[in-house]
Amino acid sequence: MFLMTQSPSRMFALAIFFCIARLALGANTEDWKPRSIYQVFTDRFARTDGSTSAKCDTEEGLFCGGTWRGLINHLDYIQNMGFDAIMISPVSESIEGRVSYGEAYHGYWIRDLYQLNGHFGSRDDLLDLREQLHSRGMYLMVDIVINNMAAMTNGSDPGTATDYSTFNPFDDRKYFHPYCKIEDYNNYDEAQKCWTGDDLVALADLNTESADVGKIMESWVKEFVANYSIDGLRIDAAKHTGTEYLAKIAKASGVFTTGEVFEGNVHIACDYQNYIPSVPNYPVYFAMIKAFTAGNITALSDELAVSREVCKDISALATFSENHDLPRFASYTKDLALAQNVLTFTILSDGIPLYYQGQEQHFSGPGTPTNREALWTSNYNTDAPLYKLTTTLNKIRSHAIRTNQDYLSSQSYPVYTDGSTIAIRKGTEGRQMLTVYSNQGEKGGDYRLDLHISYAPGTVVTEVLGCRNYTVSEEGTLGVLMGKGLPKVFFPADEMRGSGLCGAGNWSTRIEGEKGGAGALRPGKFGIGGVSLGVLVAAVMGGFLGLL
Ligand SMILES: *[C@@H]1O[C@H](CO)[C@@H](O)[C@H](O)[C@H]1NC(C)=O
Ligand SMILES: *[C@@H]1O[C@H](CO)[C@@H](O)[C@H](O)[C@H]1NC(C)=O
Ligand SMILES: *[C@@H]1O[C@H](CO)[C@@H](O)[C@H](O)[C@H]1NC(C)=O
Ligand SMILES: *[C@@H]1O[C@H](CO)[C@@H](O)[C@H](O)[C@H]1NC(C)=O
Ligand SMILES: *[C@@H]1O[C@H](CO)[C@@H](O)[C@H](O)[C@H]1NC(C)=O
Repeated sequence: MFLMTQSPSRMFALAIFFCIARLALGANTEDWKPRSIYQVFTDRFARTDGSTSAKCDTEEGLFCGGTWRGLINHLDYIQNMGFDAIMISPVSESIEGRVSYGEAYHGYWIRDLYQLNGHFGSRDDLLDLREQLHSRGMYLMVDIVINNMAAMTNGSDPGTATDYSTFNPFDDRKYFHPYCKIEDYNNYDEAQKCWTGDDLVALADLNTESADVGKIMESWVKEFVANYSIDGLRIDAAKHTGTEYLAKIAKASGVFTTGEVFEGNVHIACDYQNYIPSVPNYPVYFAMIKAFTAGNITALSDELAVSREVCKDISALATFSENHDLPRFASYTKDLALAQNVLTFTILSDGIPLYYQGQEQHFSGPGTPTNREALWTSNYNTDAPLYKLTTTLNKIRSHAIRTNQDYLSSQSYPVYTDGSTIAIRKGTEGRQMLTVYSNQGEKGGDYRLDLHISYAPGTVVTEVLGCRNYTVSEEGTLGVLMGKGLPKVFFPADEMRGSGLCGAGNWSTRIEGEKGGAGALRPGKFGIGGVSLGVLVAAVMGGFLGLL
């Protein structure tokens, strides 16, 4: 036998090799589900010099100076809000120059996939960012562009003016669909075979049905993920690529991917889970906006019901209420209570929260490009009401995940709804989290809502946002005191220990306090560079077993 002829030291080296090979395996969908992601718009998050006085006129569309180094210096701001992953703007080299609506500050106008975008920093900066995140137990997700390359045509016909030779790779016309402009974005065939962009900046549309393009992009994505130890990818414009191609690239990446499919129809959006693990949940986004800005709270319960039927895995979808392409919530209404409801739903409903920078500061840009405010103008205010709320919500979510095995896999279920309220439960029967939302806004009245939601009579539950205990009546009724349009979040009081909320100790306190005790919880996964200790041990053992 081959293995028997190996010397012990050779075998040890092999075991180490297997161990490292296992470590190199990226984070998968299950690893990502418990995470909460903060979307960083790199050019607008933090400058290297840390200055908060630098002007940034969003309408001009020019680079404002945000960098990876600046981001590294402000990771506390993100982590202290309870996020354990970030998603950053595309990192590859963009085209230079300026058109009427500005420059490539957003990172989406890629020219060379193999070079980094010098505006955002150096290779060392990006590697250091990855390093700093991993040492904090956080994941790095990068936005990637696989649908097109970009060329500045500046008013000429993209069909003739696009200079393919400037691209790397794909430096030839043969890799691209012939030019046609998308007229109807809801026509998928057209949306996938024609070009996005316009005649100022042509977004040359890759022929993603071609085997050549597929192979080149697959090998790029593998190298890219490996070179920077990336834990997950957002795939930009996934709606505009072929679905087989999308599936191939997602698989080749070896990590979790969520693909941007801008689509309100849940049947179409969730069909994408046949190709990639996740899409941002646009159907629920639109329902949320209807519920909290247009008075239609039924839209939300309807959408949840359909999603439960249609989607393969709701807990893998990314839940968001703002991003760099959408109007900020505060542009619909300045009402802080409504913003609190939307935020609460974003973090506590099913799916992986994907939270856009600036939401915690109640930024109000009404659309692209004004929704790309420089965060530094807020002076990174950690006393902002939505910053504090976000912290609490992330804490209770990760606490529920740690203490309640079914929390992630169980689906949100509305247990009550009226014209302005919806109550939703999630988690193990009898120990569930209960969230009550209102769309009455700050001027909403005080009222009592009697809910029957299968907590045992006499159960004490803590309302986590107000730190107040409620006792379930002998009849099994929870009398929720609603007021000022604020959301309420309930969790069994005797399960609060370890949450770090409402006077209960932190997670580490709980483990120490209960070491060896019958009630001690399993500590779950402690990540080492995105790989759990259990997996690591298993890999080492597996390596040895395989060898002996
Ligand atoms: C684009 O065209 C405008 C006006 O036609 C001109 O001022 C500008 O320099 C051009 N930009 C590039 C990058 O060619
Ligand atoms: C990955 O790194 C290698 C070695 O430095 C380099 O040759 C290659 O171009 C890189 N690939 C990507 C996609 O960054
Ligand atoms: C609310 O939204 C639902 C689902 O989107 C829709 O069917 C219903 O007509 C809407 N109701 C009102 C009053 O607009
Ligand atoms: C709520 O009840 C729990 C368990 O009985 C208790 O430990 C906690 O201090 C109470 N919290 C408040 C805010 O009264
Ligand atoms: C929990 O941890 C946070 C931050 O790590 C700290 O500010 C807080 O005081 C801790 N609370 C308790 C009760 O230990």
